[in-house]
Amino acid sequence: MVFNIALLKGDGIGPEIVDSAVKVLDAVGEKYGHKFNFTPYDIGGVAIDKHGIPLPQETVEGCLASDSVLLGAVGGPKWDTLPGNMRPEKALLGIRAAMNLFTNLRPAKLYPALKGECPLRDDIVENGFDIMIVRELTGGIYFGERGMREGKYGEEAYDTESYSRMEIERIVRVAFATARKRRKKLTSIDKANVLETSRLWRKIVHEISAEYPDVECSDMLVDNAAMQLVRNPAQFDVIVTSNMFGDILSDEASQITGSIGMLPSASLCESTRGLYEPIHGSAPDITGQNKANPIATILSAAMMLLYSFNLAEESEAIVSAVDKVLEAGYRTADLAHGAPALSTEEITNQIIEFI
Ligand code: IPM
Ligand code: MN
Repeated sequence: MVFNIALLKGDGIGPEIVDSAVKVLDAVGEKYGHKFNFTPYDIGGVAIDKHGIPLPQETVEGCLASDSVLLGAVGGPKWDTLPGNMRPEKALLGIRAAMNLFTNLRPAKLYPALKGECPLRDDIVENGFDIMIVRELTGGIYFGERGMREGKYGEEAYDTESYSRMEIERIVRVAFATARKRRKKLTSIDKANVLETSRLWRKIVHEISAEYPDVECSDMLVDNAAMQLVRNPAQFDVIVTSNMFGDILSDEASQITGSIGMLPSASLCESTRGLYEPIHGSAPDITGQNKANPIATILSAAMMLLYSFNLAEESEAIVSAVDKVLEAGYRTADLAHGAPALSTEEITNQIIEFI
């Protein structure tokens, strides 16, 4: 089969890690008889430098015309002082909205080979953990009205969170369906003791839970959830939560896996077209040094094969190659504690060996 993939390499280590994932996809294509065509488009800081805006129209059109999108990372110190709507990060929000990517899947699991990297006590992670965070991605406070105004105490900034029934229902349904395919346990995380949006969220979760009697569903307040994630991460199977809570909790979940360099993500809509990216950022401090861990991006490509192209076996080939590389003891610098580490290219080639 032939698949057309838009590449948004972005800034910092983005180009290096996307190139790694492309090599891995090419290897998979060769082995299983698929052809992946790649078309690069500018996004983030590079787009600001070249086109004067973080998300050019041709990038949006290219993504919408593709079968799926692979993204590296955006942002860096060079663009940090630009006004909010000109920042590279704005492009990420823009492309998510333009593609209607309301579902963000962020799996966080403990690799047995990386147990030593987990900052939690041994007895806490004895049995590992395997969590799927389902984050709402195109609503809430990241997309609400914001601005500056004169307030009671003078200069004042404001952001607003709103969620419609439609937006909550569709993400909650995705989460229940996801839980049904896993260990059938869903935790909905909110702040219903304070926020009106959370109270509507919780009410809708309860309504929809009647459609999924086989899925055990419970609510948890977000402050408690942040604590439970480090107290007993194994209690979670699928988590569903709002845009901002999901952003924060997924970073926390990534750290207990050992390295943020390991976590992929899939952003999905109603069609099979998705956007796949590592959850980490552009790491300007190690850019261009062939040092970045490409695994999160490579695993994002594996998620693309599964969710966008329905190529389960091919996807699993990547996942198991990554497992084998870790089990064989190969590590990039983020996981090597100063010991000699493999470069981005070397670990990519090792993964390809196992494919
Ligand atoms: C993420 C990032 C983005 C987000 C930023 C860069 C806009 O932190 O993908 O988690 O908050 O969604
Ligand atoms: Mn984030």
